[in-house]
Amino acid sequence: MHQAVNPDRASAFGSLPPATGIGLKPDHYATVLGEDDSAGDATPSLPMPAWLEVHPQNYFGDGGPPHRWLSAIADKFPLSFHSVGLSLGSSDGLNEYDLEKLADLCSRYDPAMVSDHLSFSGNAHHRFADLLPIPYTQEALDHFARQIDRVQARLKRPMLIENPSRYLAFADDEMDEIAFIEKLIAKTGCGIIFDINNVEVSCGNLGESAEAYIDAVDPDWVGEIHLAGHAIEEHESGPLRIDDHGSQVSNVTWRLFERFIARAGPKPVLIEWDTDIPAYTTLMAEAQKAQAVLDRSKKKNPFVSSEVETQPVRSLDDARDERIAETVRSI
Ligand SMILES: [Fe+2]
Repeated sequence: MHQAVNPDRASAFGSLPPATGIGLKPDHYATVLGEDDSAGDATPSLPMPAWLEVHPQNYFGDGGPPHRWLSAIADKFPLSFHSVGLSLGSSDGLNEYDLEKLADLCSRYDPAMVSDHLSFSGNAHHRFADLLPIPYTQEALDHFARQIDRVQARLKRPMLIENPSRYLAFADDEMDEIAFIEKLIAKTGCGIIFDINNVEVSCGNLGESAEAYIDAVDPDWVGEIHLAGHAIEEHESGPLRIDDHGSQVSNVTWRLFERFIARAGPKPVLIEWDTDIPAYTTLMAEAQKAQAVLDRSKKKNPFVSSEVETQPVRSLDDARDERIAETVRSI
């Protein structure tokens, strides 16, 4: 399952394979473990993701079914921990409770990647469910970099920061988002989750060029790519794109993704679908579409050794065969 990865480049951000994964929901725990027999003996071979992403906040309890599932899944798949609660941009400092819980989880599962967002979710007195944008000023940059330094020192590993979906721009912004991210990487050594749906949402809402944004991102910054769907609300002032992760990836985002991969080569790519969770086969159809883009890419990922090719998604039969072989070897 785990691919050989060039250790010099992979050590920068993690060791996810440059192939397609999915955001894991409890609805699909049994399926990815090959334990969902609900369709009977006639179940066709199901495709398997190359890796899985989870929100660590869903596993902050010490035990119980969530950890029993995650332990079994971690034995079979590389994991990416995508935190939604560190609140790195909070002026009161990051969320210490989430950092300590995240550190415990990293010790327990040793994920291939750890990430959070270029945003804040509250202050010392209030927590919000949203990932709120921060102003792109030198003061915010210095503060955000200090929070990343703290997380990376505590976790003893580099982390990725995800570009946000934005619905407004601050009047006192001193630089654009790309310049802010570039300076953040230079100050901290972090990388980015490049969420291409978020590029479509932000650029569409703010009247900026998504193509120019895509072309300005250095592939060496990118440790992981996110693809997701969004909703569109029609207003008198025009359409407002809402980042709800509740539908298929849009045609615009697919074109932007292909544009980036043509330049960058294969990268770890995630299909995010967090609301109105679809059937597993629907989710994997999106994953296979993304995998086809990676497979068509001729350029090599700078994080992958020249001997390694992108692996196709595995069938459920393949996964079962591997588990049987492991069982036989252990007897
Ligand atoms: Fe994302």
